[in-house]
Amino acid sequence: MDSETERKGIPKLLNRYAKVVRSYTLTASELRRELGEADAIVTGGFGKVSKSEIESAPKLKIIAVAAAGYESVDVQTATSRGIPVVRAGTADVEGVAEQAVGFMIMLAKKMNVAISELRKGNWKYRNSPEALGSELFGKTAGIVGFGMVGRALGRKASGMGMRLLVFDPYVKRKEVKGFGARFVGLKKLLALSDYVCLAAALTSETRHAIGANEIELMKPGAFLINIARGGMIDEEALFLALRKKRIAGAGLDVLEKEPPTDCPLLQLDNCIITPHTAGATAERTSDIGRVIVREVKRVLSGHPPSAANWINPKIKRLNK
Ligand SMILES: NC(=O)c1ccc[n+]([C@@H]2O[C@H](COP(=O)([O-])OP(=O)(O)OC[C@H]3O[C@@H](n4cnc5c(N)ncnc54)[C@H](O)[C@@H]3O)[C@@H](O)[C@H]2O)c1
Repeated sequence: MDSETERKGIPKLLNRYAKVVRSYTLTASELRRELGEADAIVTGGFGKVSKSEIESAPKLKIIAVAAAGYESVDVQTATSRGIPVVRAGTADVEGVAEQAVGFMIMLAKKMNVAISELRKGNWKYRNSPEALGSELFGKTAGIVGFGMVGRALGRKASGMGMRLLVFDPYVKRKEVKGFGARFVGLKKLLALSDYVCLAAALTSETRHAIGANEIELMKPGAFLINIARGGMIDEEALFLALRKKRIAGAGLDVLEKEPPTDCPLLQLDNCIITPHTAGATAERTSDIGRVIVREVKRVLSGHPPSAANWINPKIKRLNK
């Protein structure tokens, strides 16, 4: 179990049913020894569960990710060994989508700048041309990735009177249309959106999906929002574009390197960054823990995981 699982209360909840080993307190050789005995690996989402770790755990019956994104797990190796991988994806969806809306409102109204000017005692800022914001009503939100978070965001954006464009090659056009959104290619989405919102899974296809060429297609007044995974954006290209004011701004909850060391984006007024807290709400944090503990208990008592949380259900025989 890695350190991120503590906030979600998982070690405490699982302690009642199993011997809990905290991997971050162990040396490499101690970890290898513990993996040799482990029935379950639980990660908060960022601790890597690599091929070599999975192969060092012959008794492993489940890998549980206490997050939506599971790119830190070698799912292919787990599948080939008959080990189910589960995630607690549904738990923090609304909070993450709300954070994207929060970024849009803050950026449209330049709230971060207004707050900082007022703190400096500059009430007159309200009369300056720079203080003039814009409305979300009637603007276009382009959502890249129309999974759970993308759809929750779509509902919220459409409730605020925004038009919706969607790009997701793995979702049926009919589903997008049924949502009142228009299915478009990525280039068209970038060119037509006032807010480009990234809500896709991080895969080899989506890594650095937004780089200099893609930013070049965006409107000069557009904003880029990322509540998915930092790896989707080429941060150097984004930094240059924001510094030159090639696009109006960005709202990022995620960075390619977390925690960041020397990230120049942190210095820009037109870039709002939060430390990957979009999903961290009081309502949902313990739900994630409970989902994960329920799945671990299910599998360790001989049942398959529930379909809604199971990433690799095509496994033919579970590792017993
Ligand atoms: N910031 C946070 O705290 C936080 C919290 C939860 C989820 N997330 C991240 O948000 C993202 C969405 O989460 P979710 O729960 O909706 O996951 P999800 O699995 O429901 O949806 C992911 C979507 O990405 C789509 N996708 C895959 N490849 C794509 C591509 N090449 N182009 C466009 N779309 C593609 C999939 O078809 C799917 O619809 C994930 O990256 C997840 O890790 C972040």
